[in-house]
Amino acid sequence: MKLQSANINVMIKACRNAARPLIRDFGEIEKLQVSVKGPGDFVTAADKKVEKILIDELTKARPNYSILSEEIGEVKNDNEFRWIIDPIDGTANFLHGIPHFCISIGLEKNKEIINGIIFDPIKDEIFTAEKGNGSYLNNQRLRVSGRNKLKDSIIFTGGPKYESKEKDLVLEEYKKFSSNVYIPIRKMGSAALDMAYVAAGRCDGFWQRNLNYWDIAAGIILIKEAGGFVSDFKGSANYVENKTILASNSKINQEMIEIFK
Ligand code: 2AM
Ligand code: CA
Repeated sequence: MKLQSANINVMIKACRNAARPLIRDFGEIEKLQVSVKGPGDFVTAADKKVEKILIDELTKARPNYSILSEEIGEVKNDNEFRWIIDPIDGTANFLHGIPHFCISIGLEKNKEIINGIIFDPIKDEIFTAEKGNGSYLNNQRLRVSGRNKLKDSIIFTGGPKYESKEKDLVLEEYKKFSSNVYIPIRKMGSAALDMAYVAAGRCDGFWQRNLNYWDIAAGIILIKEAGGFVSDFKGSANYVENKTILASNSKINQEMIEIFK
């Protein structure tokens, strides 16, 4: 049975409350495709609504914690603890009625992530992690996969974005990977869920450029606590600063790093 810290309980409650309108809005998407205002505004509104509920709930329980959140940015408070929030990760999926998106919240203590939650409201899957206490999916302990050859692995990635200036580089990396794995590379559209799936052993490895801290904060602790690896493309721990992330089980990380050489 899982030991659940007070902070994890706060995070679960916030996600559950925010998920209700999110699920309702997702059900409205089909009708919205024909609306005059267009679905873009609707998604921004949904994003903001979810963010507000999350922040209200988290602040009610922990009034002194600082916040970094995708829509509102920084709220400076306590120097020790900070919530890192992505209200909807996988917004394009959400907008197109594809049931693969999530809420992601990480909790930092003195700049280190100590708790994480990735909540997929449609599949009702709650991935949680706590430093020193493991990763869980709906109360079931998680382990990364044991696959030990890159060739046999299932690998996820994302991007490049429309405005990306690194398209050639991203596609070059994609090409190299595709020549080193039998199963075609997956692009699922939610970086946070990609990382949760690495923690759960569903995906063996993931790499992506130019993600924001809120896309990966919760995923980092989930993967580490499930026995996996998180680094930049060279294997260093500066993945947040370098804006390149490579996450994998404990067996194929070195082979993945070799691809970038
Ligand atoms: P979002 O849904 O919150 O925008 C898609 O590849 C994934 O990458 C999503 O998790 C998306 O998050 C995220 N993403 C955010 N910014 C990005 C960027 N600049 N380049 C590529 N992907 C980005
Ligand atoms: Ca995101």
